[in-house]
Amino acid sequence: MEITYNLKPASERRTEQFKPEGNVGFGSLRTDHMFLMDYHDGQWCDPRIVPYGPFEMAPGAMALHYGQSIFEGAKAFMHEDGEIYTFRINKNAERMNRSADIVCIPNIDEQMQMDAINALIDVDRLWFPMQEGACLYIRPFIFATEDRLSVSPSSRYTFCVVLSPSGAYYAAGVNKGIRLLISKTFHRAVSGGTGASKAAGNYAASLRAGKAAAAFGASQVLYLDSTNQQIEEAGAMNHFHILKDGTVIIPTFTDTILKSITSQSIMELGEMLGCEVRQETVMLDKFIADIESGEIIEAGGFGTAAVVSAVGSYIFEDGHVVTVGNGEVGEHVQRIYKLYTEIQKGHIKGPEGWVKRVERLAK
Ligand code: PLP
Ligand code: COI
Repeated sequence: MEITYNLKPASERRTEQFKPEGNVGFGSLRTDHMFLMDYHDGQWCDPRIVPYGPFEMAPGAMALHYGQSIFEGAKAFMHEDGEIYTFRINKNAERMNRSADIVCIPNIDEQMQMDAINALIDVDRLWFPMQEGACLYIRPFIFATEDRLSVSPSSRYTFCVVLSPSGAYYAAGVNKGIRLLISKTFHRAVSGGTGASKAAGNYAASLRAGKAAAAFGASQVLYLDSTNQQIEEAGAMNHFHILKDGTVIIPTFTDTILKSITSQSIMELGEMLGCEVRQETVMLDKFIADIESGEIIEAGGFGTAAVVSAVGSYIFEDGHVVTVGNGEVGEHVQRIYKLYTEIQKGHIKGPEGWVKRVERLAK
């Protein structure tokens, strides 16, 4: 399908490369345009790029009532040649369709999703923030628009992509280990539910737990399985820990854990990192005992927004604190972070096809 363009007049668009003064932060800024495509009568149609702005939507739109809404998160980076490169957006397109299956939303051709992202970045390329460590955060999402109040899959949807010039997700940045609340009260997902999808409702359900985490001085919750025995993941990133021989362990993907593209990438980079990266079921009691005995020396989270974040300590709801190593960012986490971000920025060549140049379509 051919994408049509209804762009802002040149006088209202950014005319020179964005050079932010302070830290751009995460997720607040937008660019001049967005990508839209509609679904009705059994097919996706009318792919278009239009000025960023509000949607017109019926108050009875089903996404607003029953939460039939999913999203993705990806990033694009500027390389030394001044061109913008997306990072593994084929994996995001694939996962969008997996999420869509879980909440009964019609799939979108993966190439179409990637074409949408590329065309939008091309149009708004001057919004790339020229700042150390910054990127264009890509947010594709789909929501149900049919005006009907019965609980069943909608017959109409909108697919939208917006861009956000962004910096670090955590205010503490990459140089400080964050604290996670290990909660036995709140659960993110149960088997048979929507945990493995990026369904919007999963994040609404995490807000109350997030508030509890903040009250404990923690950045996020580390969720356990519904029996409180196994470590699953955090609210916006997969969890990992590192043994004293350097082995990186990520909890096995189940239907209650989001299959992180960052985690999958780190697993694929094992050889370049010179260490084993594997998945296994992580039992909470053993995990804590291994931190205390020094068998586990570092821990953290993997995610597109979070990148590779170090966890300095965990706190339980009874106030008990467990510090990992000396509570600072350890050398293994720094090494993983460095390799991963150097590949994203094009300083080191990663596996074939991970970074793709955004074509200049010259609109
Ligand atoms: N787990 C959850 C619940 C998330 O929201 C995210 C972020 O997207 C991740 C894990 C990390 O996934 P990815 O590395 O694909 O961004
Ligand atoms: C991402 O890492 O891209 C995410 O989607 C996490 C988000 C909830 C901030």
